[in-house]
Amino acid sequence: MVARVQSVKIGEETMQTGEEKIRWAEQYMPVLGMIRERFIQEQPLEGMVIGMALHVEAKTAVLTRTLAAGGAEVHITGCNPLSTQDDVADALRASGIHCFAKRACSHDEYYAAIDQVLDARPSITIDDGMDLIHHLHTGRREILPSVIGGCEETTTGIHRLKAMEAEGKLLFPVIAVNDTPMKHFFDNVHGTGESALTAIMATTNILIAGKRIVVAGYGYCGRGLATKARSLGARVIVTEVDPRRALQAHFDGFEVMAMHEAAPIGEVFVTTTGNIGVLPAEDFSLMRDGAILCNAGHFNVEIDVDWLEANADAIRRRDGIDSYAFGDRTIHLLAEGRLVNLATPKGMGHPIEVMDLSFAVQALSTEYMAQHGSDLAPGVHNVPRAIDEQIARMKLESLGCSIDTLTREQAEYISSWDVGT
Ligand SMILES: NC(=O)c1ccc[n+]([C@@H]2O[C@H](COP(=O)([O-])OP(=O)(O)OC[C@H]3O[C@@H](n4cnc5c(N)ncnc54)[C@H](O)[C@@H]3O)[C@@H](O)[C@H]2O)c1
Repeated sequence: MVARVQSVKIGEETMQTGEEKIRWAEQYMPVLGMIRERFIQEQPLEGMVIGMALHVEAKTAVLTRTLAAGGAEVHITGCNPLSTQDDVADALRASGIHCFAKRACSHDEYYAAIDQVLDARPSITIDDGMDLIHHLHTGRREILPSVIGGCEETTTGIHRLKAMEAEGKLLFPVIAVNDTPMKHFFDNVHGTGESALTAIMATTNILIAGKRIVVAGYGYCGRGLATKARSLGARVIVTEVDPRRALQAHFDGFEVMAMHEAAPIGEVFVTTTGNIGVLPAEDFSLMRDGAILCNAGHFNVEIDVDWLEANADAIRRRDGIDSYAFGDRTIHLLAEGRLVNLATPKGMGHPIEVMDLSFAVQALSTEYMAQHGSDLAPGVHNVPRAIDEQIARMKLESLGCSIDTLTREQAEYISSWDVGT
């Protein structure tokens, strides 16, 4: 086992800026605020130890404190070596949350911090990408008996969980938070769409209007990105492997082509597939001098960064940008190919209001797991529809929006089969 990152010191000054960031986020998280009020009264998580591996930034801190307000003992680390905001981590530590996250940690430090979370013997895990559950099932199986179940935040984590389930290797129930409409309709589409573009603009200072932007993958994240880039005036090309999604992009008005055709045309490339080798080395030599590459998918495997490291001269131009010179061209890579909206120094992750919804799903799914987890079979479970609808109603209430209610006649009509022509 690797060495622990012991006794992270709390910086007074950074703790203050972190606290300010958390308070700022809280103002725009009314749904989580309502849940927190109820949690304070009802203490539904009393006696629960929650182990988390999430992007440690301000919105996550609000979730963490909501769970603690519900009576849980919370232990948290990051789910990406570059996405932790150290000032937020300091503020969490100062408020009694066991936080082991550190920005720019090494691979060993990353897993050492995961080990520290697992040392607390969590009853519920909350993952973003499944590294915690993976480590628990592989390196720390002695912890398994204390776990009731888990919750997973992102598409890539769900893929991994379903692969584990298919092989009969997943040993406790996990709620697929990502797969519920109140998460991916908003988080993946609007959250990734806006925050990836914001991070690209803030890191590079380039104009999006008029640029040829290539979006790899037309799933929830890719659709959000492509649509928002177009609304800023970009000329967007989409690449896909799924013929239905490719056709959807075509009918949505985007140019669709294979990556090797898009490579010589694109000025900015964003991968959003959750897959490996989406921008391979052979496409780099087709690209224009000065092309900008980045990734908004969960892991840093979409762009062949290893090839660039091994075959090109790397020059760090400015924070968050590595420029690679090879042959007669230079191409620029943002955030080392890690998810651009969180891993660039200016990346703040998804907009707050979006995370209010995603983390409301996390909070209520955690409560559900605490109450019903021992009745659930090992495997991947959907978020109960009642939770999804409750969150939508709370958000509408906070916005002051009212909606119609089905009449009895309408409810009967849409659930009947004998009324036709
Ligand atoms: N950056 C963030 O903050 C953030 C937020 C949410 C999700 N994610 C991550 O983004 C990734 C995508 O999530 P999603 O919800 O959009 O998934 P999705 O499954 O809806 O979409 C992925 C799309 O990529 C396509 N694809 C797969 N391989 C491809 C290839 N080689 N070339 C082109 N297209 C390919 C698939 O056909 C699919 O349409 C996942 O890794 C997810 O975990 C990131």
